This record gives sequence, C-alpha cells and structure tokens, in this order.
Amino acid sequence: MKKLFAVFLLALMPAIAFAAESGPELDKVDIDLADKAALQDGARTFTNYCMGCHSAKFQRYERVADDLGIPHDLMLEKLIFTGAKIGDHMAIGMQSADAKAWFGAAPPDLTLVARVRGTDWLYSYLRAFYEDPARPWGVNNKVFPNVGMPNVLVGLQGRQVIGCKQVQVETDGKKQYDPLTGSPLTHEACDQLTIVPKTGTLNEEQFDEKIKNLVTFLAYSANPVKLQSQRIGTYVLLYLAFLFVFAYLLKREYWKDVH
Ligand code: HEC
Repeated sequence: MKKLFAVFLLALMPAIAFAAESGPELDKVDIDLADKAALQDGARTFTNYCMGCHSAKFQRYERVADDLGIPHDLMLEKLIFTGAKIGDHMAIGMQSADAKAWFGAAPPDLTLVARVRGTDWLYSYLRAFYEDPARPWGVNNKVFPNVGMPNVLVGLQGRQVIGCKQVQVETDGKKQYDPLTGSPLTHEACDQLTIVPKTGTLNEEQFDEKIKNLVTFLAYSANPVKLQSQRIGTYVLLYLAFLFVFAYLLKREYWKDVH
C-alpha cells in the first residue's frame, strides 16, 4: 500500500512542479554573461541604486572588479560608497530590524537572488512597479503584489500606471493582424502597465536595457564561476575527444591477434 502511495505521489510530481510555476506572466530576458559592458553597467546600477538597502555580502568588491575588468581605483571611486576597502565583502550598514520597521520587510541579501527567483522573474519584477496610492510608498508591483520595496528606479523609468488599454491580439506568441486590412487586431485588456511618457530620464527601450544589464550582473553574482566552468568544460571535452583517438588505436592494436 505504501509503495502504491509512493508511486501515486511520483506520478503527481509534474503536476506539482507545474502548479509551482504558475503565477504572474513573466517577460523573457536573454542575458549574456560574457558581455563585459553589460556587466559593468549592471554593477554600477546595483551599487548606486540598490546597495542603500540590499547587500551582496557573499561577494567581494575586488573579485567583482577583477572579473568585470574594472580597475581597482575606478571601482573605489565610482562604485564603493560605504567607505569599504577593495577586499571587503559587499555589505551594507542598514540593520535588518530597522529595515523591517521602515519597510514592513527586511530587504534580503541579493548575492544569490538570481538563483532563487530566476532571471525572467527579476527582469519582470524590476519593470513592474506601478502607482498605487493605497500602498505606504504609493507603489505596488504586478509581479510581487504588495511588496515592501519602494520604486527606486522611478526617476529612470518614469511613472508607471496600471489600467485597461487596447493591446494587440497574440496567438502562440504571434501578433495577429486583420487579414483584410492588415491593421493590428486589438482587444481591451485590463491590468496593463503603461509608462507616462517623458516622466523618466530614459525611454522604455533604454530602461529595459538598463534592467537587462542589472539582471546580467545579478546572474553573474549568483554564479561567478559559471563563465570559467564553461571554458573548462570545453577543454575537458576536447581532451576526451583527443584521448578517444588514441584509446581506439590502442584497442585495435590489442585485438588484432584475437580476431
Ligand atoms: C529603499 C530600500 C530599497 C532599495 C534602494 C532597493 N530595495 Fe529591493 N527591496 C526592498 C525591500 C524592503 C524588499 C522586501 C520586500 C518584501 O519582502 O516585501 C525588497 C525586495 C527586493 C527583491 C525581492 C527579493 C525576494 O526574492 O523576495 C528584489 C529582487 C529586489 N528588492 C531588488 C532590488 C534591486 C535590484 C534594487 C536596485 C535597483 C533594489 N532592490 C533597491 C528595499 C529596497
């Protein structure tokens, strides 16, 4: 009976995994960990806009500078605001008890957040703040409802509001057009985010790029050896391919007399 129950549970696994994945619809982001310029821009945004509240305390400034190709003096001048030394961990001064009182929740350390949440989630979350007078900071978030975090990037993105608007019909991710007139087929959808034009210093495309770079940095931070392991992996495969040739020749030599 126990066995049967175990089999039943196992059979249910995919359904459970699927249920865990349902949630807000996420925008996809395609990040490139080898893009140094993106990583540097992301590091700059992170230290300037996020480290007031969030630490990345499993990471050292020096390691980031070296991995991203940022000279140490530039790192100290432009990216370190806490008086920390180059070899220090990326810690912050805010106490979590204080933070909890101010925001209702303590801002978590972000070193590993890309592993926990995934890059699509981060990319969507950071672009999903909208005005909501009912919330303490006047903002809410479509991906993380009732989040305690204020919209710290509003100056770049501009004000974003939620409401109903006409959106283009999509089937299987493909935009649909009227077959007769060729004009886009639209329908009214609610819960849609819209940026109020000219209220931020970046346009929508530039802001998305900024967030993509920031997410690239967070992905690097969650797994700084990934680039290195990919390179080593290639060498290992080349080595094995090379070894195979000799192993095969040797095998032929040994079996020559047996046949
Ligand atoms: C003024 C303080 C503050 C600043 C600045 C700030 N955050 Fe937050 N952040 C918070 C708080 C508070 C939470 C916790 C929210 C909650 O649990 O309700 C949070 C939550 C998050 C989360 C969700 C973590 C999780 O997995 O639950 C992410 C991701 C995040 N912040 C990223 C950022 C990034 C990236 C920046 C810089 C662009 C940033 N934050 C700047 C206060 C801040």
